[in-house]
Amino acid sequence: MTDVPQTYDETGAVVHCQLFYVNDSQQAQIESLQSLIAEHKLPIVLETELSTEKLTQKRRQQLSQTSSQPILLLDEKDKLSWISDGLSVSPEWDKLQRRVVSAGRKSELLLQAAKITADSHVIDATAGFGHDSLILGSTGAQVIMLEQQPLMALLLLAEQERMSALPNWQKLMSRLHITNADALSYFTETGSVENKQSTIDVVYLDPMFPEDSYQDSKTGKGAKVGKHMQALHQLACPPTLEEERQLLNSAKAIVSRSAQGQGRVVVKRPQFAPLLAEQPASESWHNEAVRFDGYFV
Ligand SMILES: C[S@@+](CC[C@H](N)C(=O)[O-])C[C@H]1O[C@@H](n2cnc3c(N)ncnc32)[C@H](O)[C@@H]1O
Repeated sequence: MTDVPQTYDETGAVVHCQLFYVNDSQQAQIESLQSLIAEHKLPIVLETELSTEKLTQKRRQQLSQTSSQPILLLDEKDKLSWISDGLSVSPEWDKLQRRVVSAGRKSELLLQAAKITADSHVIDATAGFGHDSLILGSTGAQVIMLEQQPLMALLLLAEQERMSALPNWQKLMSRLHITNADALSYFTETGSVENKQSTIDVVYLDPMFPEDSYQDSKTGKGAKVGKHMQALHQLACPPTLEEERQLLNSAKAIVSRSAQGQGRVVVKRPQFAPLLAEQPASESWHNEAVRFDGYFV
């Protein structure tokens, strides 16, 4: 096992992760992960270990049950995953190829709600696995992706690097700007910098919500929780009502200075979930699983 120098964020909190890799030829990939951690000042320490046995589903389950620290896996295709509760999760942006190519079509409710163009500047303030950021970025817009959890930020940065090697994805990758930050702190900072604030046209919010709000409690209708969301529930909590208010209000303040004069905040909720911060939306779009609430400013 190799220990690497520690890095710290302003709060001093450090996440120690165990990184399993599967063959000796992956040193370059490990170094590249270390460079991402250093360059983006992620408070992460990687403890690397060559896995001599096959990481079967059973072994992953065992590892996640016995280890007190997050477990990462660099597989034989150099894809970085997080092993959470025996499940292996990663952004897997390549799986969104069909949606990315056809984005802009009516089927993407998110794009109907966000109404962005190639000239737009968007903040996805709760990036998660970055799936919605990809859809937003597929329009040609620039997307700042904020993610508060260092582990998630590392998964995003590693995925961006992996996908940037594929010629068809390079342009889209260059429009995504990943930052490990809490959205509220970022908004406060951005709000105090004159020119920066005028460039944001849309803020997109998809905060965590209680696990039981995905389905209607009476009818049982609604979405099942997918493995990506299950994993995220291990890391992040839903905001309190007061935090929801702060998030929505500061997002509105940011887009109110949109250079295009058409600022809006778009909030994603499970179809039957209550409104964010109990604030009525200007317009909503929904299907049988999700709802997008638009706040026009
Ligand atoms: C529901 S997930 C978002 C999923 C995302 N839309 C996607 O397509 O993968 C919420 C994510 O937002 C992050 N998050 C929640 N509150 C945040 C905040 N205040 N600032 C930055 N990130 C936040 C959580 O850590 C989590 O990764």
